[in-house]
Amino acid sequence: MKSVKVGLIGLGTIGVGVVKILQKNGTCISARLGASVELTKIADLDITTDRGIEIDRKLLTTNADEVLTDPDIDIVIELIGGYEPARTFILKAIAQGKHVVTANKALLAMHADEIFTATEKHQVSIGFEASVGGAIPIIRSIREAFVANRIESIEGIVNGTANYILSKMSDENLNFDVVLKEAQAKGFAEADPTFDIEGIDSAHKIAVLSRLAYGTPINIDDIYVQGISRISLEDIACAHDLGYRIKLLAVSKFDGEVLDIRVHPAMIPKTKPLANVNGVLNAIMIRDDLMGENILVGHGAGALPTGSAVVADVVEIARNILCGAKNRMPAQSFQKSQVKKIPVRDISEIEGDYFLRFLVVDKPGVLSKITGILGDHQIGIKSVIQRHRDDKGEGVLLVMMTHRAQEKNIQEALGKIDSLDVICEKTVLIRVEE
Ligand code: HSE
Repeated sequence: MKSVKVGLIGLGTIGVGVVKILQKNGTCISARLGASVELTKIADLDITTDRGIEIDRKLLTTNADEVLTDPDIDIVIELIGGYEPARTFILKAIAQGKHVVTANKALLAMHADEIFTATEKHQVSIGFEASVGGAIPIIRSIREAFVANRIESIEGIVNGTANYILSKMSDENLNFDVVLKEAQAKGFAEADPTFDIEGIDSAHKIAVLSRLAYGTPINIDDIYVQGISRISLEDIACAHDLGYRIKLLAVSKFDGEVLDIRVHPAMIPKTKPLANVNGVLNAIMIRDDLMGENILVGHGAGALPTGSAVVADVVEIARNILCGAKNRMPAQSFQKSQVKKIPVRDISEIEGDYFLRFLVVDKPGVLSKITGILGDHQIGIKSVIQRHRDDKGEGVLLVMMTHRAQEKNIQEALGKIDSLDVICEKTVLIRVEE
């Protein structure tokens, strides 16, 4: 039987998952591919720690160059994550004429132009299904299944850590800090959770998807990003009373002229499917001109789910190698000559409904001061709730749902409201996504 030779750089959680999958399902993969996928070299700085798998020690090296320059290796899998040395390793592999598979969304969000240009120059493929949504085949869907469709919007819960925290806060009435600590203890959240909870990981993922969906380069700094660290139990309880759940949402909408791309906590009606995607699950909803809405839900992280997406990319590239196909599909979904920069709408220009949570001094006249300023900015109020604080701290909570309003007006109004002496802390704003 023919074999396709693969080198792996990075033996962390996903790398171990890939090794396990090739060991466990190698026969089944060969039966489908008509060739074996042979892992011939594995590079990691630490090759002594027991990873709970059997690996022939002769395969292991601490020197990534042994993978990158081995003439027998057809496909290099990069699973070290981060910007460097991952970028250098990938570019070197490509320059050596090797195909690449990676799960590195941060790198692709920042350096896709450079990497895709290199793959075109050297006529090699790059697979990155595992970079967004773990086992959910969203990249394959956009590049292949929806190739005839004009995508109009992508809305997704693409960070399992943030979704786990929000779900647990909601289901078990626990504070953000308590849930985060528990998630870290269970290994669901990183020791430094900033990328996950502050929305940066989600921004990287929506940048990757938007590039493929609309054929535009994305500058990561053009994405408005707000995380979940200011979401309190009270926000979740108020949202619940109003018929909503709060999710960290990555949004990318294209009206044919301008792109609206952002990541922030969003209130989603409980009746909508995305509101019911809980725990570490991810979900991505695509809307287009042919099928309307399509939702893909699944495991967005973890050794075997994400590892399976990596191995699927390896098999797809192996199929191309075996039949001699080159450049079968452009990496960024569109032909290079058709990739054009689409202008991005500033967050101040969007319109929507808003949830505003004020912490105010409980005395007569406060409500009218706030509603007066909102009225001066053409912001209509749909409903108002006053709640005493669960933690019995200073002030009372005033929650308002607005009618459709301009974000610019909301921000200007909040700037004025937050400077009133009756306001105890910066007001929380959560956008409503109907
Ligand atoms: N840290 C990511 C998450 C998983 O929590 O969803 C990898 O993309």
